[in-house]
Amino acid sequence: MAKYRIALMPGDGIGNDVMDAAKIVLEKVALDAQYVPAEIGWEFWCREGDPLPQRTVDTLKACDCALFAAITSKPKEEAQAELAPELQDKGFVYRSPIVRLRQMFDLYVNLRPCKAFMGNPLNYRDDIDLVVFRENTQGLYAGVEFHPLPAGVRQALQANSKRMAAFEGVPSEDIAVSCRVFTRAGCQRIVRQAFEYARKFGYPTVTLVEKPNVIRETSGLMVREARKVAAGYPAIELWETNVDAMAMWLVKNPQNYGVLVSSNMFGDIVSDLAAQLVGGLGFAASGNIGDNFAVFEPTHGSAPKYAGLYKVNPTAMLLATKLMLDWLGEVETARALQQAIADVIAEGQVRTYDMGGDSGTLDVARAVAERL
Ligand code: NAI
Ligand code: MG
Repeated sequence: MAKYRIALMPGDGIGNDVMDAAKIVLEKVALDAQYVPAEIGWEFWCREGDPLPQRTVDTLKACDCALFAAITSKPKEEAQAELAPELQDKGFVYRSPIVRLRQMFDLYVNLRPCKAFMGNPLNYRDDIDLVVFRENTQGLYAGVEFHPLPAGVRQALQANSKRMAAFEGVPSEDIAVSCRVFTRAGCQRIVRQAFEYARKFGYPTVTLVEKPNVIRETSGLMVREARKVAAGYPAIELWETNVDAMAMWLVKNPQNYGVLVSSNMFGDIVSDLAAQLVGGLGFAASGNIGDNFAVFEPTHGSAPKYAGLYKVNPTAMLLATKLMLDWLGEVETARALQQAIADVIAEGQVRTYDMGGDSGTLDVARAVAERL
């Protein structure tokens, strides 16, 4: 039996192109692994009314982790219209399969490394090495939202917060409330993962990105818990920065920061900013990581206009593969893959269109495999 079972979910559009690139590299590194294809995406929504069929969930449960490329998703009306005729009006509702995976497997860490590779013409600076830890299950994206504001919720808010007086005259139909839900355990575990990563990979600082001076309760809880966690890592400094200031600092002095940790929405925004500093979508990889399972993916989508053309940059997908190798404990192989990617970028011979070249997706993968 192979040491690892790894699910491969290419998904839609260029997801297939970049997954083929990943396969070239995986073949070369010759991991002791069994690769199990798994179906996800728009096609399965249209044909079966579920973009994440139960058989895929079963496959994932029998695997150590998954490599996922990209899916297509569309607004509500279009989703309904594209559903197979025999499935219409049967109560099928589209829900993002990747959000469902995060919840189903409690993948509470969203890991987004943003490292500038030498010689990448898209770099903002060449000395950037940021790693964002975004909480992936709570916060403003927890889905606890109200509109119109139910009477019971309104009464409870009025009874418990003097601030609600400011909205007294507003009809419930005219108020929407989205709750920012943090738990102590949720704060602790994301911060602890950030510190563990900093220790493992030698980063001297972890910066907590919140806004405790204004969002006093949730950000406040996060700050207090972060300080407690930080006490266990005396060799690593905890920096605390407000999210708005962080946006400025990341543009002004991104090279001064290492590991960043934040709640769901702030982390989402800060990680997109950080990704653009090192080349954007073609370079942005992420890991959705829990205690027992993880899904690694490029952060880009299915880019339908490039689907099947093998034109897009597979670097984000290859970096997602590198993150997976790290997580599996294949640290040496991961390091070698990262070096091979860095070499190909530095040499500058094999480049996709976004970097000003005319090489194809698989050319890049083959060049990386050759240097491994
Ligand atoms: P997108 O990321 O698919 O593409 C936007 C543009 O970025 C592309 O047209 C292309 O110019 C560029 N781009 C993306 N990936 C690239 C790569 N690897 N190399 C070079 N250039 C690249 O985002 P868009 O167009 O907003 O969404 C298309 C579909 O993807 C939608 O259905 C959307 O819902 C879905 N999507 C899925 C995601 C996922 O699977 N996690 C994430 C984002 C969007
Ligand atoms: Mg995002």
